[in-house]
Amino acid sequence: MSYRTIIEPFRIHSVEPMRMTTSSERRAALEVAGYNLFALRAEDVLIDLLTDSGTGAMSRDQWAAIQHGDESYAGSPSWFRFLEGVQELFPFPHVIPTHQGRAAEKILFSVIGGPGRIIPNNTHFDTTRANVEATGAQALDLVIAEGHDPSNLHPFKGNMDLARLDALLAKEYDNIPVVFMTITNNSGGGQPVSLENLRGVRALCDKYDVPLFLDACRFAENAWFIREREAGQSERDVPDIVREVASLADGMTMSAKKDGLANIGGWLAMKDEALAQRCREVLILTEGFPTYGGLAGRDLEAIAQGLHEVVDHDYLRYRIQSTAYLGDALVAAGIPVVRPIGGHAVYLDARALLAHVDPLAYPGQALAVALYEAGGIRSCEIGTVMFGLRPDGVEVPAALDLVRLAIPRRTYTQSHIDYVIEVCRDVASRASELRGYRIVEAPRALRHFTARFAPLS
Ligand code: F0G
Repeated sequence: MSYRTIIEPFRIHSVEPMRMTTSSERRAALEVAGYNLFALRAEDVLIDLLTDSGTGAMSRDQWAAIQHGDESYAGSPSWFRFLEGVQELFPFPHVIPTHQGRAAEKILFSVIGGPGRIIPNNTHFDTTRANVEATGAQALDLVIAEGHDPSNLHPFKGNMDLARLDALLAKEYDNIPVVFMTITNNSGGGQPVSLENLRGVRALCDKYDVPLFLDACRFAENAWFIREREAGQSERDVPDIVREVASLADGMTMSAKKDGLANIGGWLAMKDEALAQRCREVLILTEGFPTYGGLAGRDLEAIAQGLHEVVDHDYLRYRIQSTAYLGDALVAAGIPVVRPIGGHAVYLDARALLAHVDPLAYPGQALAVALYEAGGIRSCEIGTVMFGLRPDGVEVPAALDLVRLAIPRRTYTQSHIDYVIEVCRDVASRASELRGYRIVEAPRALRHFTARFAPLS
């Protein structure tokens, strides 16, 4: 007999209070924040689904590992435990610790990017795109067509469009220093990439002699989807799948704030020794010595232990099922969401729900603000605010206007999620009353973090 209730595979060991605000307090907070949810005080948020990055709960064993942190400047035992933890799953000879994922991206692209260069990816995340473009290189997204259709039920909607990648490589291989694959595909809805597709990308990289790197932030969730959905994979252990994925690549960038189960950290890893040497030179300028990067010894310990825990099947089953629990309830309520439900987040299709709001009036922003105003839930627009401003300064609608409800790992219980479902249903029932926004002030790069908005009258 198999019971259907999702069991969190942990008990609560230490608790954090949350504070309920009134709707007039939330309206006042929104005005002060310029209707940008990044500018809210976290204490004014009840359920914080802004990101799954660095916001998860660490385990008893991670807190214990922190006590073993050795803060030696060079060659600390904590560094060697970190290295062993990383290489057990990703056996790249060169591992370069960084304070988070974008530092790894910044180092790599400052070495291999530059004007005239092109970096293809299934879909670049915002910091990845920004770090590519900051060097003058071009960031190209080549996800399969199904990946742009929020209702298409393709099981691996994060896959790369191999025909388009082949055509690009045939023409431009001299200008392409690396091909990237983001697992899972965050900006496209947290959708996984199949082993078969990764093998296809590998074959093209071999054909044109271009290296393949993984943006592996959510590698364990991706491996779980491979186990669940890909033919012939259901009996395999997740670490074994992860090692096969790693074996198809020449290197990786990583944010340990996601599937490292840590609050901070990341790394850059690769096979190529000469490239590693150049990256370490930049590392020393910006992050620190190569055996700690931008991290304390205790952070290295927390990550090493986190990598051990994140590939546990009970954990991953709970993780993926509980995200689907939220998504399935919203589908049942008739709310348009990206399907299938992704690994770390549920993405509301704001363009469909707020069809009366023009994409350049930011339907995702309007929906995200409404969820906060109604129930103190903080989410994140992933749409025209985040991606609509081209490097030449022209504003165009993004491919999709989504609102991401990202689920911090091991942090909220099912009753918190039931509350989120209730608030979403309420806001969706009055979606036609929501109005768009305009941007009052914004920087040119990564504007979603600091832009200020005003409601359209
Ligand atoms: N790549 C992907 C796919 C990401 O999702 C992120 C971060 C990064 C790289 C950068 O890592 O934050 O450690 O510098 N994503 C977070 C998010 C911020 O909310 O999705 P970082």
